[in-house]
Amino acid sequence: MALKTYFLQVKEVVVETPDCVTIYFWHPLSEQIKYKAGQFITVIVPIDGKKVRRSYSMSTSPHTDTALGITVKRVLGGLVSNYLNDRVQVGDFLEIVEPLGNFFVEPDAEKSRHLVLFAAGSGITPMMSIIKSVLKMEPESRITLIYGNRSEGSIIFKDKIEELEYKYRERLKVHHIISRPSDYWVGQVGRISQGISIRFMKDSYTDFAKDHFYLCGPEGMMEDVIKGLNIYEVDKSQIHRENFHAPMLDEIHVEETDNSLKTQMVKVIYDGDEFEFEVKPHQSILEAALDLDIDLPYSCQAGMCTACMGKCTEGKVKMDEEEGLTDKEIAQGYILTCVAHPLTAGVVVEMD
Ligand code: FES
Repeated sequence: MALKTYFLQVKEVVVETPDCVTIYFWHPLSEQIKYKAGQFITVIVPIDGKKVRRSYSMSTSPHTDTALGITVKRVLGGLVSNYLNDRVQVGDFLEIVEPLGNFFVEPDAEKSRHLVLFAAGSGITPMMSIIKSVLKMEPESRITLIYGNRSEGSIIFKDKIEELEYKYRERLKVHHIISRPSDYWVGQVGRISQGISIRFMKDSYTDFAKDHFYLCGPEGMMEDVIKGLNIYEVDKSQIHRENFHAPMLDEIHVEETDNSLKTQMVKVIYDGDEFEFEVKPHQSILEAALDLDIDLPYSCQAGMCTACMGKCTEGKVKMDEEEGLTDKEIAQGYILTCVAHPLTAGVVVEMD
């Protein structure tokens, strides 16, 4: 799948908290970049002579904001998040890959619905886009946001959320939860647990049979919320989760090696060419290819966008993440090479 890339000029950099910025871009002169509320772009930055990619959700809304903006929280020791927080200035150009992602809401003015959003930390980013879009475009819909943070000072978009709450006071209800509050905090203390999430959902007159639930934050938080939703037998189709907001492994310089993996030779067939190369236990098939400058299609490198999808026609692979594929695609042998590791010798992957 050939993806479009753009060089976008930075319009504005806004410091949201001491460790988080929003970078606003001008659209290219030739076109308005289209995206859906909740989607992400992949930023490509040159670091130490290599092009490094990371995906960030838009915090802007395609329905209310003229610029396109991403919000980036600094990860301790992280390559790209620190580059974007420290180095990017107004007027710079950054290379990006077109918007992608299946975590989105398409507003419909005819709808009257209740969306329940759970976010922790920088997981608020796609939610801001969704909140602004739905409140503006669906006059009969309402939103409950349950938002967890470490301290009051780390609440991203605190003022903007308050403004929206004031403007749409009949339709937006926000519950903040702080795990390490100051002495002045009078709100909920703790983290988004199963019990707290159920209490806030009930307070907000949630209809578990038909409301939709959007989750973005650390894996543990999302699992706890889902356990709560399972008690009320919420259908899987009503639950939407975005997975890549937990820092990626290489972003925090941690390498975990799975003992079931060994160095294996893999063959990739792409665009009429055959590439045969070694994949080490700590590498995905895509990473090994990119290290050898083999030009394969990819974008998010987090198993979400499917740009790197291929079909495993021989051998077996193991994927760290399967969320981006449907059950049918998995059954047909499709894999995401950015999160796939060869389990056996002789793996062959065909890519379109
Ligand atoms: S690059 Fe996005 S799923 Fe692999």
